[in-house]
Amino acid sequence: MNPRAVIQGIGHSVPAKVLTNLDLEKLVDTTDEWITQRTGIKERRICGPDEAASDLTIAAAKEALADASMDPMDLDLIIVATVTGDYPFPSTSCMVQDALGAKRAGSFDLGAACAGFIYATSTASAMIESGQCKNIMVLGVDVLSKFVDFTDRSTCILFGDAAAGVILSAEENTDRGVLKTVLLSDGSGGKHIIRQAGGSRNPSVTEGPDAVRNSIFMNGAETYRFAVGALGDACCKVLDEAGLTPADIDLFVPHQANIRIIESAANRLGLPEEKVFINIHKYGNTSAGSIPLGLYEASKQGRLKKGDVVMTVGFGAGLVWGANLIRW
Ligand code: UT7
Repeated sequence: MNPRAVIQGIGHSVPAKVLTNLDLEKLVDTTDEWITQRTGIKERRICGPDEAASDLTIAAAKEALADASMDPMDLDLIIVATVTGDYPFPSTSCMVQDALGAKRAGSFDLGAACAGFIYATSTASAMIESGQCKNIMVLGVDVLSKFVDFTDRSTCILFGDAAAGVILSAEENTDRGVLKTVLLSDGSGGKHIIRQAGGSRNPSVTEGPDAVRNSIFMNGAETYRFAVGALGDACCKVLDEAGLTPADIDLFVPHQANIRIIESAANRLGLPEEKVFINIHKYGNTSAGSIPLGLYEASKQGRLKKGDVVMTVGFGAGLVWGANLIRW
Protein backbone atom coordinates (compact mmCIF):
# COMPACT_ATOMS: atom_id res chain seq x y z
CA MET A 1 0.00 0.00 0.00
CA ASN A 2 1.26 3.51 -0.82
CA PRO A 3 2.01 5.83 2.10
CA ARG A 4 -0.65 8.40 2.99
CA ALA A 5 -0.08 12.17 3.40
CA VAL A 6 -1.05 12.84 7.02
CA ILE A 7 -1.30 16.30 8.61
CA GLN A 8 1.33 16.59 11.35
CA GLY A 9 1.16 20.28 12.22
CA ILE A 10 -0.71 23.46 11.42
CA GLY A 11 0.03 27.19 11.72
CA HIS A 12 -1.43 30.54 10.79
CA SER A 13 -0.78 34.27 10.77
CA VAL A 14 -3.07 37.24 10.21
CA PRO A 15 -2.16 40.93 10.24
CA ALA A 16 -2.87 42.91 13.42
CA LYS A 17 -4.79 45.68 11.67
CA VAL A 18 -8.57 45.19 11.63
CA LEU A 19 -10.74 46.85 8.96
CA THR A 20 -14.39 46.83 10.02
CA ASN A 21 -17.54 47.41 8.01
CA LEU A 22 -17.89 50.70 9.87
CA ASP A 23 -14.41 51.72 8.63
CA LEU A 24 -15.55 50.89 5.06
CA GLU A 25 -18.68 53.03 5.50
CA LYS A 26 -16.28 55.98 5.69
CA LEU A 27 -14.51 54.98 2.44
CA VAL A 28 -17.34 53.98 0.07
CA ASP A 29 -21.12 54.23 -0.24
CA THR A 30 -21.98 51.13 1.76
CA THR A 31 -23.41 50.05 5.11
CA ASP A 32 -22.58 47.47 7.74
CA GLU A 33 -26.10 46.09 7.21
CA TRP A 34 -25.64 45.60 3.43
CA ILE A 35 -22.24 43.92 3.82
CA THR A 36 -23.42 41.66 6.65
CA GLN A 37 -26.61 40.58 4.87
CA ARG A 38 -25.06 40.05 1.42
CA THR A 39 -21.74 38.50 2.48
CA GLY A 40 -21.66 37.60 6.20
CA ILE A 41 -18.50 39.69 6.68
CA LYS A 42 -18.16 42.01 9.70
CA GLU A 43 -14.43 42.71 9.59
CA ARG A 44 -11.21 41.63 7.89
CA ARG A 45 -7.45 41.83 8.62
CA ILE A 46 -5.31 44.08 6.45
CA CYS A 47 -1.52 44.19 6.04
CA GLY A 48 0.26 47.45 6.83
CA PRO A 49 2.43 49.28 4.26
CA ASP A 50 5.55 47.34 5.31
CA GLU A 51 3.88 43.92 5.52
CA ALA A 52 3.78 41.47 2.61
CA ALA A 53 2.89 37.84 1.87
CA SER A 54 6.20 36.38 3.06
CA ASP A 55 5.88 38.01 6.50
CA LEU A 56 2.59 36.25 7.14
CA THR A 57 3.72 33.01 5.50
CA ILE A 58 6.97 32.71 7.46
CA ALA A 59 5.10 33.22 10.75
CA ALA A 60 2.53 30.57 9.78
CA ALA A 61 5.31 28.20 8.68
CA LYS A 62 7.16 28.55 12.00
CA GLU A 63 4.00 27.82 13.96
CA ALA A 64 3.29 24.74 11.82
CA LEU A 65 6.84 23.42 12.37
CA ALA A 66 6.55 23.92 16.13
CA ASP A 67 3.12 22.26 16.13
CA ALA A 68 4.59 19.24 14.31
CA SER A 69 7.74 19.31 16.52
CA MET A 70 9.70 19.08 13.27
CA ASP A 71 13.16 20.30 12.36
CA PRO A 72 13.18 22.47 9.19
CA MET A 73 15.93 20.19 7.84
CA ASP A 74 13.36 17.39 7.67
CA LEU A 75 11.30 19.23 5.04
CA ASP A 76 11.66 17.90 1.47
CA LEU A 77 9.47 20.52 -0.18
CA ILE A 78 7.69 23.81 0.51
CA ILE A 79 4.70 24.77 -1.62
CA VAL A 80 3.17 28.21 -1.22
CA ALA A 81 -0.21 28.72 -2.86
CA THR A 82 -0.57 32.40 -3.68
CA VAL A 83 -1.42 34.91 -6.39
CA THR A 84 -0.07 37.84 -4.36
CA GLY A 85 3.48 36.81 -3.47
CA ASP A 86 6.02 39.46 -2.50
CA TYR A 87 7.32 39.57 -6.10
CA PRO A 88 6.58 37.87 -9.45
CA PHE A 89 9.99 36.32 -8.78
CA PRO A 90 11.72 35.07 -6.68
CA SER A 91 8.96 32.91 -5.31
CA THR A 92 7.57 33.48 -1.83
CA SER A 93 8.26 29.80 -1.09
CA CYS A 94 12.01 30.46 -1.51
CA MET A 95 11.74 33.28 1.02
CA VAL A 96 10.05 30.89 3.45
CA GLN A 97 12.71 28.21 2.79
CA ASP A 98 15.47 30.69 3.59
CA ALA A 99 13.80 32.08 6.72
CA LEU A 100 13.24 28.57 8.10
CA GLY A 101 16.73 27.33 7.20
CA ALA A 102 15.10 24.41 5.37
CA LYS A 103 18.30 23.72 3.47
CA ARG A 104 17.25 20.33 2.06
CA ALA A 105 13.88 21.50 0.72
CA GLY A 106 12.80 22.38 -2.80
CA SER A 107 10.32 25.25 -3.03
CA PHE A 108 7.78 26.56 -5.47
CA ASP A 109 4.74 28.80 -5.58
CA LEU A 110 1.48 27.56 -7.01
CA GLY A 111 -1.15 29.88 -8.47
CA ALA A 112 -4.75 28.74 -8.24
CA ALA A 113 -6.23 31.81 -6.52
CA CYS A 114 -8.82 30.93 -3.86
CA ALA A 115 -8.50 27.22 -4.71
CA GLY A 116 -4.73 27.36 -4.20
CA PHE A 117 -4.65 25.37 -0.97
CA ILE A 118 -6.81 22.62 -2.51
CA TYR A 119 -4.46 22.37 -5.51
CA ALA A 120 -1.29 22.51 -3.38
CA THR A 121 -2.54 19.88 -0.92
CA SER A 122 -3.46 17.62 -3.80
CA THR A 123 0.01 18.06 -5.37
CA ALA A 124 1.79 17.41 -2.07
CA SER A 125 -0.32 14.38 -1.33
CA ALA A 126 0.45 12.84 -4.73
CA MET A 127 4.20 13.42 -4.23
CA ILE A 128 4.07 11.75 -0.83
CA GLU A 129 2.00 8.83 -2.07
CA SER A 130 4.45 8.27 -4.95
CA GLY A 131 7.36 8.10 -2.48
CA GLN A 132 9.11 11.16 -3.93
CA CYS A 133 8.82 13.17 -0.69
CA LYS A 134 8.32 12.38 2.99
CA ASN A 135 7.59 15.79 4.55
CA ILE A 136 5.98 18.67 2.64
CA MET A 137 4.92 22.04 3.98
CA VAL A 138 1.84 23.41 2.20
CA LEU A 139 0.93 27.03 2.85
CA GLY A 140 -1.78 29.29 1.48
CA VAL A 141 -1.38 33.05 1.59
CA ASP A 142 -2.88 36.06 -0.08
CA VAL A 143 -2.62 39.77 0.51
CA LEU A 144 -5.39 40.96 -1.75
CA SER A 145 -5.81 44.20 0.21
CA LYS A 146 -2.81 45.52 -1.74
CA PHE A 147 -4.68 45.00 -5.03
CA VAL A 148 -8.14 46.13 -4.03
CA ASP A 149 -9.49 49.41 -5.34
CA PHE A 150 -10.76 51.06 -2.17
CA THR A 151 -13.16 53.17 -4.23
CA ASP A 152 -14.89 50.09 -5.71
CA ARG A 153 -17.58 49.08 -3.19
CA SER A 154 -18.36 45.81 -4.95
CA THR A 155 -14.88 44.37 -4.28
CA CYS A 156 -13.24 46.30 -1.44
CA ILE A 157 -15.71 44.99 1.14
CA LEU A 158 -14.89 41.35 0.40
CA PHE A 159 -11.19 40.74 0.77
CA GLY A 160 -8.79 40.37 3.70
CA ASP A 161 -5.24 39.08 4.21
CA ALA A 162 -4.09 35.85 5.88
CA ALA A 163 -1.65 32.95 5.72
CA ALA A 164 -1.99 29.45 7.11
CA GLY A 165 -0.67 26.04 6.30
CA VAL A 166 0.06 22.46 7.25
CA ILE A 167 2.88 19.95 7.25
CA LEU A 168 2.02 16.70 5.49
CA SER A 169 4.13 13.61 6.24
CA ALA A 170 4.25 10.11 4.81
CA GLU A 171 2.69 7.45 7.02
CA GLU A 172 2.28 3.76 6.26
CA ASN A 173 -0.59 1.55 7.42
CA THR A 174 -2.94 4.33 8.43
CA ASP A 175 -6.47 5.30 7.52
CA ARG A 176 -5.66 8.97 8.21
CA GLY A 177 -4.44 11.53 5.64
CA VAL A 178 -5.59 13.00 2.33
CA LEU A 179 -8.19 10.52 1.09
CA LYS A 180 -9.28 11.96 -2.23
CA THR A 181 -9.08 15.18 -4.22
CA VAL A 182 -10.77 16.63 -7.29
CA LEU A 183 -9.36 19.55 -9.31
CA LEU A 184 -11.40 21.36 -11.95
CA SER A 185 -11.08 24.45 -14.14
CA ASP A 186 -12.83 26.51 -16.82
CA GLY A 187 -10.56 29.15 -18.35
CA SER A 188 -13.42 30.58 -20.42
CA GLY A 189 -14.51 32.34 -17.22
CA GLY A 190 -11.14 34.02 -16.68
CA LYS A 191 -12.55 37.45 -17.43
CA HIS A 192 -14.88 37.33 -14.42
CA ILE A 193 -12.11 37.78 -11.80
CA ILE A 194 -8.95 39.33 -13.13
CA ARG A 195 -6.04 41.55 -12.25
CA GLN A 196 -4.72 42.76 -15.59
CA ALA A 197 -1.38 44.33 -14.65
CA GLY A 198 1.83 42.71 -13.50
CA GLY A 199 2.15 39.84 -15.99
CA SER A 200 3.85 39.45 -19.36
CA ARG A 201 0.85 40.85 -21.30
CA ASN A 202 0.66 44.06 -19.29
CA PRO A 203 3.79 44.33 -17.13
CA SER A 204 2.90 47.77 -15.84
CA VAL A 205 -0.10 49.87 -15.07
CA THR A 206 -0.91 52.34 -17.86
CA GLU A 207 -2.81 55.60 -17.88
CA GLY A 208 -5.57 57.06 -20.03
CA PRO A 209 -8.97 55.75 -21.19
CA ASP A 210 -7.65 52.25 -22.00
CA ALA A 211 -5.63 52.02 -18.78
CA VAL A 212 -4.72 48.56 -17.60
CA ARG A 213 -6.03 48.01 -14.12
CA ASN A 214 -3.70 47.09 -11.30
CA SER A 215 -6.60 46.34 -9.01
CA ILE A 216 -8.95 43.39 -8.95
CA PHE A 217 -11.89 43.43 -11.35
CA MET A 218 -14.69 41.08 -10.39
CA ASN A 219 -18.04 40.39 -11.97
CA GLY A 220 -19.68 39.58 -8.64
CA ALA A 221 -22.98 38.24 -9.93
CA GLU A 222 -21.34 35.94 -12.49
CA THR A 223 -18.79 34.71 -9.94
CA TYR A 224 -21.61 34.08 -7.48
CA ARG A 225 -23.57 32.00 -10.00
CA PHE A 226 -20.47 29.95 -10.85
CA ALA A 227 -19.52 29.48 -7.19
CA VAL A 228 -22.90 28.17 -6.06
CA GLY A 229 -22.80 25.42 -8.69
CA ALA A 230 -19.07 24.69 -8.49
CA LEU A 231 -18.95 24.26 -4.73
CA GLY A 232 -21.73 21.69 -4.63
CA ASP A 233 -20.49 19.88 -7.76
CA ALA A 234 -16.92 19.51 -6.44
CA CYS A 235 -18.15 18.18 -3.10
CA CYS A 236 -20.50 15.64 -4.71
CA LYS A 237 -17.70 14.50 -7.06
CA VAL A 238 -15.08 14.03 -4.35
CA LEU A 239 -17.56 12.20 -2.09
CA ASP A 240 -18.65 9.99 -4.96
CA GLU A 241 -15.06 9.12 -5.91
CA ALA A 242 -14.26 8.27 -2.28
CA GLY A 243 -17.41 6.16 -1.94
CA LEU A 244 -18.66 8.39 0.90
CA THR A 245 -21.84 10.36 1.49
CA PRO A 246 -22.40 13.74 3.22
CA ALA A 247 -23.38 11.80 6.37
CA ASP A 248 -19.75 10.58 6.60
CA ILE A 249 -18.45 14.16 6.91
CA ASP A 250 -17.58 15.35 10.42
CA LEU A 251 -16.72 18.90 9.37
CA PHE A 252 -17.10 20.93 6.19
CA VAL A 253 -14.48 23.68 5.78
CA PRO A 254 -15.36 25.62 2.61
CA HIS A 255 -13.56 28.60 1.12
CA GLN A 256 -14.97 31.63 2.93
CA ALA A 257 -16.10 33.92 0.09
CA ASN A 258 -19.74 34.63 0.92
CA ILE A 259 -21.95 33.19 3.66
CA ARG A 260 -24.81 32.73 1.16
CA ILE A 261 -22.60 30.61 -1.13
CA ILE A 262 -21.55 28.45 1.83
CA GLU A 263 -25.13 28.02 3.05
CA SER A 264 -26.34 27.05 -0.39
CA ALA A 265 -23.65 24.33 -0.69
CA ALA A 266 -24.38 23.07 2.83
CA ASN A 267 -28.12 22.90 2.04
CA ARG A 268 -27.51 21.01 -1.21
CA LEU A 269 -25.41 18.46 0.70
CA GLY A 270 -27.88 18.32 3.59
CA LEU A 271 -25.18 19.22 6.12
CA PRO A 272 -26.43 20.52 9.47
CA GLU A 273 -25.16 23.88 10.74
CA GLU A 274 -22.87 22.35 13.38
CA LYS A 275 -20.91 20.53 10.66
CA VAL A 276 -20.16 23.70 8.68
CA PHE A 277 -17.16 25.80 9.71
CA ILE A 278 -17.58 29.55 9.29
CA ASN A 279 -15.19 32.36 10.17
CA ILE A 280 -15.97 34.73 7.28
CA HIS A 281 -17.36 37.31 9.74
CA LYS A 282 -13.84 37.81 11.19
CA TYR A 283 -11.63 37.63 8.09
CA GLY A 284 -13.63 38.10 4.87
CA ASN A 285 -12.32 36.34 1.77
CA THR A 286 -8.60 35.64 2.30
CA SER A 287 -8.22 33.70 -0.97
CA ALA A 288 -5.56 30.95 -0.65
CA GLY A 289 -5.32 31.63 3.10
CA SER A 290 -9.00 30.94 3.68
CA ILE A 291 -9.22 27.13 3.83
CA PRO A 292 -6.07 26.47 5.91
CA LEU A 293 -7.10 29.30 8.26
CA GLY A 294 -10.45 27.54 8.65
CA LEU A 295 -8.71 24.23 9.36
CA TYR A 296 -6.43 25.97 11.86
CA GLU A 297 -9.27 27.57 13.81
CA ALA A 298 -11.43 24.45 13.67
CA SER A 299 -8.62 22.30 15.09
CA LYS A 300 -7.75 24.81 17.82
CA GLN A 301 -11.45 25.07 18.78
CA GLY A 302 -11.62 21.27 19.16
CA ARG A 303 -14.01 20.92 16.22
CA LEU A 304 -11.52 18.70 14.34
CA LYS A 305 -10.23 15.65 16.16
CA LYS A 306 -7.90 12.86 15.11
CA GLY A 307 -9.78 10.50 12.79
CA ASP A 308 -12.49 13.02 11.79
CA VAL A 309 -13.31 13.30 8.09
CA VAL A 310 -13.07 16.88 6.88
CA MET A 311 -14.17 18.07 3.45
CA THR A 312 -12.57 21.23 2.08
CA VAL A 313 -13.69 22.98 -1.09
CA GLY A 314 -12.45 26.09 -2.89
CA PHE A 315 -13.13 28.13 -6.02
CA GLY A 316 -11.74 31.27 -7.54
CA ALA A 317 -10.11 33.17 -10.38
CA GLY A 318 -9.23 31.03 -13.37
CA LEU A 319 -11.87 29.88 -13.02
CA VAL A 320 -10.64 27.00 -10.86
CA TRP A 321 -12.27 24.88 -8.22
CA GLY A 322 -11.76 21.64 -6.35
CA ALA A 323 -12.22 19.70 -3.14
CA ASN A 324 -10.15 17.59 -0.73
CA LEU A 325 -11.30 14.90 1.66
CA ILE A 326 -8.94 14.46 4.59
CA ARG A 327 -9.08 12.12 7.56
CA TRP A 328 -7.60 14.35 10.29
O1 UT7 B 1 -13.21 33.95 -3.94
C1 UT7 B 1 -14.00 33.95 -5.07
C2 UT7 B 1 -14.28 35.31 -5.57
N1 UT7 B 1 -15.45 36.03 -5.29
C3 UT7 B 1 -16.69 35.64 -4.87
O2 UT7 B 1 -16.99 34.56 -4.51
C4 UT7 B 1 -17.75 36.70 -4.89
C5 UT7 B 1 -19.06 36.21 -5.42
N2 UT7 B 1 -20.06 37.26 -5.47
C6 UT7 B 1 -20.61 37.82 -4.36
O3 UT7 B 1 -20.29 37.46 -3.25
C7 UT7 B 1 -21.72 38.83 -4.56
O4 UT7 B 1 -22.06 38.88 -5.92
C8 UT7 B 1 -21.35 40.24 -4.05
C9 UT7 B 1 -21.29 40.25 -2.53
C10 UT7 B 1 -20.04 40.71 -4.64
C11 UT7 B 1 -22.45 41.21 -4.46
O5 UT7 B 1 -23.69 40.80 -3.93
P1 UT7 B 1 -25.00 40.70 -4.85
O6 UT7 B 1 -26.11 40.31 -3.98
O7 UT7 B 1 -24.65 39.80 -6.00
O8 UT7 B 1 -25.18 42.19 -5.31
P2 UT7 B 1 -25.17 42.77 -6.80
O9 UT7 B 1 -23.80 42.78 -7.36
O10 UT7 B 1 -26.27 42.10 -7.58
O11 UT7 B 1 -25.63 44.25 -6.52
C12 UT7 B 1 -26.91 44.57 -5.95
C13 UT7 B 1 -26.93 46.05 -5.65
C14 UT7 B 1 -26.42 46.91 -6.81
O12 UT7 B 1 -27.18 48.09 -6.81
P3 UT7 B 1 -28.38 48.28 -7.87
O13 UT7 B 1 -27.73 48.18 -9.22
O14 UT7 B 1 -29.34 47.17 -7.60
O15 UT7 B 1 -28.90 49.64 -7.53
C15 UT7 B 1 -25.00 47.26 -6.40
O16 UT7 B 1 -24.56 48.47 -6.95
O17 UT7 B 1 -26.05 46.33 -4.55
C16 UT7 B 1 -25.14 47.36 -4.91
N3 UT7 B 1 -23.89 47.18 -4.19
C17 UT7 B 1 -23.71 47.66 -2.96
N4 UT7 B 1 -24.49 48.38 -2.14
C18 UT7 B 1 -23.99 48.70 -0.92
C19 UT7 B 1 -22.77 46.52 -4.59
N5 UT7 B 1 -21.85 46.56 -3.64
C20 UT7 B 1 -22.39 47.26 -2.60
C21 UT7 B 1 -21.93 47.65 -1.35
N6 UT7 B 1 -22.77 48.36 -0.53
N7 UT7 B 1 -20.71 47.32 -0.88
